[in-house]
Amino acid sequence: MAIGAGDEYWKEQALPSVFKHTLLDKYMPQFTGMTGSAARGRRVVYLDGYAGRGRYEDGTRASVERILTIAQNQHRNAGLDWTCFFVEQDDESAVALVQVIAEYAAVRVTVFAHHGAVLEVLDDVIAAAAGVPLFLFLDPCGLGVPYHQLTELLSTERSQTWPPTEILLNFSLEAVRRIGGHVMSPKGNETTMARLDATVGGRWWRQRFAAGVTNKAVTAVVQEFCTRLGADTGMTVTSVPVRRAPTHKPIYHLVFGTRSPYGLWVFGDSTARATQAWWDSCEEVEADTDPNALFTVAATMRPSLDTIEEVAVGRITENLAALLAQHGDFKVVDHTIAVFGEHYGQVRDLVVRKAVQELHKQGRTASDGRGGRPRELRVIRPASP
Ligand SMILES: C[S@@+](CC[C@H](N)C(=O)[O-])C[C@H]1O[C@@H](n2cnc3c(N)ncnc32)[C@H](O)[C@@H]1O
Repeated sequence: MAIGAGDEYWKEQALPSVFKHTLLDKYMPQFTGMTGSAARGRRVVYLDGYAGRGRYEDGTRASVERILTIAQNQHRNAGLDWTCFFVEQDDESAVALVQVIAEYAAVRVTVFAHHGAVLEVLDDVIAAAAGVPLFLFLDPCGLGVPYHQLTELLSTERSQTWPPTEILLNFSLEAVRRIGGHVMSPKGNETTMARLDATVGGRWWRQRFAAGVTNKAVTAVVQEFCTRLGADTGMTVTSVPVRRAPTHKPIYHLVFGTRSPYGLWVFGDSTARATQAWWDSCEEVEADTDPNALFTVAATMRPSLDTIEEVAVGRITENLAALLAQHGDFKVVDHTIAVFGEHYGQVRDLVVRKAVQELHKQGRTASDGRGGRPRELRVIRPASP
């Protein structure tokens, strides 16, 4: 199948999708909860531009059904009014998708299912989202929406902080590796390379492969893509690698863009939680494959969360002290990356509370780190003796 996700893909949820779907489960209700409750009519708009079938053959919920479940719960519990656009180009997948959506007909969620290409609905999505929060989930198997169309949208109609717009893009490293091989090859195909030019917004990526296709070159491309996307849209853009198995190279990055300090904070926390779910599944998959094994490779390789978080508390405590020296009193959510440092996306936000408490114990802040959510904590200078 030319566009990538055939019957094999839809048999059961593979490990990369465990990570991706857990991330959606953790992050989406927080984005729509935080922004939708302040929005006109408590409305939010969501696009899954490469929606797939909605559910795997074994009954596991895929991205569409997960979102419908979240939308249903938030309608019941918080009175939020979701409008969802689900787009799928492949005929067979589009039929399966419509059947899953039909099961949710009674739910008070407005759903538009489109059998076709994602670019055909972008104008409708923008019109539906006028004045209200918008989330764009673009999850192709290979190359995605042309860069200029994405950045134009994000720097014109959806360039404001409010109503908020956020994006989550699947950036295929497999496609970058494959097409990167064309750059120095005598048989390099210009049409193929031009498709990557369109996706990343220019020919700049070609220079990265002048010495061949290496992991370093592929990582450099995704990093530069994020930097350029951030500069061209005014968003803070970050990305997380997604792997098939612990020892494998990443097959894609999930690239996240937000203009909200809260978005950045919650995305990092959600990533840490999705990583835990991914490790759990790695162990389960291995145990199923070899039920007699005394221990699984994943179990031996898996970093212990306790150890990671213990190290992180120490580092984050020093990051907080440095921020206090530099800025005076501050709120942690306003300095997410500086607070978490190298631990961003790796540890849950409860570690920040522990770090504030540690700083307090050392007499270096008057904040005791108690109460409220970790992201709302303020770090204030110690009272003068
Ligand atoms: C990785 S799968 C989607 C998985 C789904 N988002 C999930 O997590 O459950 C990508 C899907 O995009 C579809 N697709 C490919 N090109 C498309 C396009 N231009 N517009 C809409 N859908 C497309 C493919 O048929 C495939 O079902």
